[in-house]
Amino acid sequence: MLTSIILVLVVITADVSAESSCQTTDGRYEVSITGRGIESEKIPQVIAFHAYISKHVFPGAGRRFVFDVTKTNQGKGYNNHTGVFTCPKTGMYVFVWVMRSLAGEHSTELMINDSVYGSTFLRAKNGDDGSVSGTVVAHVTKGDSVYVRNHSVLAGDGMIASNLHGQSTFSGWLLQ
Ligand SMILES: *[C@@H]1O[C@H](CO)[C@@H](O)[C@H](O)[C@H]1NC(C)=O
Ligand SMILES: *[C@@H]1O[C@H](CO)[C@@H](O)[C@H](O)[C@H]1NC(C)=O
Ligand SMILES: *[C@@H]1O[C@H](CO)[C@@H](O)[C@H](O)[C@H]1NC(C)=O
Repeated sequence: MLTSIILVLVVITADVSAESSCQTTDGRYEVSITGRGIESEKIPQVIAFHAYISKHVFPGAGRRFVFDVTKTNQGKGYNNHTGVFTCPKTGMYVFVWVMRSLAGEHSTELMINDSVYGSTFLRAKNGDDGSVSGTVVAHVTKGDSVYVRNHSVLAGDGMIASNLHGQSTFSGWLLQ
């Protein structure tokens, strides 16, 4: 009698945990195992990206900046052709962007799903050259889009500079 109760409990427990998560031995991946023991998806535990713009650019009002050279892209959320980070895993994220102005002035915005979460402004006129950075900490849902754009209405001028003397960069990582 006792044995059969235990058996029933074991069966129920096994059923409830038909889909479970575990870490690989190197601790880098969270692996979901389906009831049949098949890995359903592999999402790295550490989500992090870092990219920079390889040349001076004039993107125009409201346009997204494309940080075309990817140095880090764990979790493959960042796209270096569109400039968009598509969140692969829900959580609290830090985003940092650095924009360099050369003989111009610019306002830039950090966007999450088409809402402004942060902005920077730098005036570097008369041949001046400098960088400004912005930081945003926000809860981001899987599938949300995060990107940096030129301000939609504030008229700036000149270019966003990026070269070996000073890069314009976009980075982000999941806090855990
Ligand atoms: C940003 O848009 C403004 C117009 O609002 C434009 O004058 C400026 O040149 C743009 N900035 C860059 C870096 O292209
Ligand atoms: C752009 O991203 C693709 C896909 O991740 C990668 O293969 C390529 O090396 C990246 N290009 C640069 C210049 O970083
Ligand atoms: C953000 O936009 C994506 C794509 O349209 C959508 O799937 C997602 O639910 C949105 N997230 C929020 C928090 O609005």
